[in-house]
This record gives sequence, structure tokens and C-alpha cells, in this order.
Amino acid sequence: MINETDPQKMYRAMQAKLSNVVPDFELKLKSEIAAEINRLKAEKNAVILGHNYMEPTLFNSVPDFVGDSLELARRAAQTDKDIIVFCGVRFMAETAKILNPTKTVLLPAKKAGCSLAASITAQDVRDLKTRFPGVPVVTYVNTYADVKAESDICCTSGNAVAVVASLHTDRVIFLPDEYLARNVAKETGKEIIFPTPDPRKTTDSELNFQMIGWLGRCEVHDKFTVEDIANVRKQFPDVTILAHPECSPAVVAASDFSGSTGAMIRFVENSSAPHYLLLTECAMGDNIAAANPDKDMLRLCSVRCPHMNEITLEETLEALQKNQYVIELPQDILERAARAVQRMIAIG
Ligand code: 13P
Ligand code: SF4
Repeated sequence: MINETDPQKMYRAMQAKLSNVVPDFELKLKSEIAAEINRLKAEKNAVILGHNYMEPTLFNSVPDFVGDSLELARRAAQTDKDIIVFCGVRFMAETAKILNPTKTVLLPAKKAGCSLAASITAQDVRDLKTRFPGVPVVTYVNTYADVKAESDICCTSGNAVAVVASLHTDRVIFLPDEYLARNVAKETGKEIIFPTPDPRKTTDSELNFQMIGWLGRCEVHDKFTVEDIANVRKQFPDVTILAHPECSPAVVAASDFSGSTGAMIRFVENSSAPHYLLLTECAMGDNIAAANPDKDMLRLCSVRCPHMNEITLEETLEALQKNQYVIELPQDILERAARAVQRMIAIG
């Protein structure tokens, strides 16, 4: 965070951090907006939370806290500010609201969706519960509040294995990310099935399985392939490859490390490989490159999350100026979703 309200000082601070990843004219323009955001943030007693996928000028200027979705949920739970501005996507802002039902939570863009959150409805979860009665439901935080409300516990990519282990049950329903579910199943040695929508067309009951998944995918991480990895390794045999667990199990297996966005950042900070390649959305690659100028980040990434991309410094300024877009959720959804999110936060 650069908590500057003076545009000149902000520009110099941004230049010192970002001159290797952002053109100078952009830094000049953005520093004025960022300085004004910081002034308004103090005036309105707001806190700004920034996901690791925010573009470099935003990520490095106005957020009071940056991190992965678990770290930001924890920060949201701890804040004493009146307003939370969530620079991330809608499901993250909803999670902040679930944890702070009496505070104003602002999302700087109207939509800022997520292909995983869009892949499942509350009715889908109710149908699965009817089909697999008594089996606890673990829901990835990349879901909307009404889906969380149908769940027993939430998880993020940072704690999915620990959350599943905490249940001590023979079976779990794990929704909605197919790849994260497969990766967790692999790591914990569980058999996973993906039931078809029509229960009459399956023989699920005859199978020996411990996890029940759903066929949701992240539209960004789905793009990475083992061929990409093979091509990079051919060119850079000593490269260290990091993959988010929303990538396919084959991609994760062909990589050297897999973890949440926060875990990937810490891995690069705490290691000294000749080259790194990140298989995740590309603004984070820029942010890591800016923070680690001595490390060689291979810049082969061209996959930007279109939903994260909706959040800019301009939109964040407007959010504070116009008090928009306020996250509102029905009371019963808030209360039921809070149980699942709080239970996750308690696990860590
Ligand atoms: P993290 O929890 O690792 O930050 O991931 C959130 C996300 O949406 C990744 O695509
Ligand atoms: Fe959703 Fe994928 Fe974007 Fe993350 S990167 S917000 S999972 S679409």
C-alpha cells in the first residue's frame, strides 16, 4: 500500500515500484486517481481490500490489504471501518458482506462475475442434497451467497484439503470447481464422481466413492495445457512452474508447485530459481515481477480474468464518490451463508 494523498508523491512512489512493468505515462495518470482515492478513503472511514489479481497500478497503490481470497476474507472479518471497498469480484465482496452484515460493502463494478460462481445455483445444491442425503456440502468461496447458504462449510484454494479433512466423514459433496475437486481428491487419496443431472442414468450408488463433484470450471485456468508446460520446459529446462489448483490435475502434476495466489507469491519470494512461470491470470505475474525485480518471471502469459479486469482505479474512485455498487443480500441468506463462511474461517 502507498497511503499517499499527494499526487506527486504518489507518482514517485509508484514509479519506484512499477517502472519495470507499467509505462510512465500510465503511472502519471493513475497516480492522480490513486491519490484522490486515498483522500476519500480516509474521509469516509473506508478500508480497501485488493485481490492479488488486481492490475499493478491498483494493486500497488490504494489497497490497505492485498491477498488471496482467504486472506481477504479474514481481513474483512477483522475490520472496524464503516465501508469496505472490495477490489475483486462479486463473490468476494459478498463474502465480505456475509462477514460484516451491518457494514456497507462496495464492489467498484456492477457485475464482476466469475465462471465458477455462475456454474451452479442454490437449486442445484438442494438437488444434490436430496440425492445424497446426509453428505456434508463443501462449497468453494467462488460461489454466490445463496449457494453458500445451502452449504455446511466453505473453502478456498488455500484451505480446501484442511476443510475436507476437518469433516471426518466418509463422503463429501465438493462444489463447484471440477479441477479443484479432482486436485483435492488426488491429494487426499479419495475417489471422486461427477453425477449426471438425471439420477436414473447413473450407477453412482454401486461405486466406491468419497467425493461428489460438479462440472464447473474457471475460464482462465482451464486454458493452460500440459503442452504449454512442455514447450516452456523445452526452451527453459531449469524453469520452476507454479500452477493454481483451478488448473487441471494434469497441469498441476506437470508443474513444480501448486497453491493459492497467496501461496504462489510466497513461493517466489522465498525461493531462488533461475526462471519462474506462473500458470494463473497474468496481472499477478506483473505484480510478482514488480515486487521481485531480481527474479526472472517468464512473461508468456496472455490470460487476463475478464471479471477481475472490470475493477480499475477509475471505477474504485467512482465507487467511493457515488457509494456504489452496494452489496445487498436477503437476511436469511446472509445468516445461513455466514455459518458456512465462519466455519471455514475458524479452520484457518
Ligand atoms: P485465490 O483464493 O487463490 O486467491 O483464488 C481466487 C481465484 O478466483 C482464483 O482464480
Ligand atoms: Fe473466477 Fe477464474 Fe476469474 Fe478467478 S480467475 S475470478 S475463478 S473466472
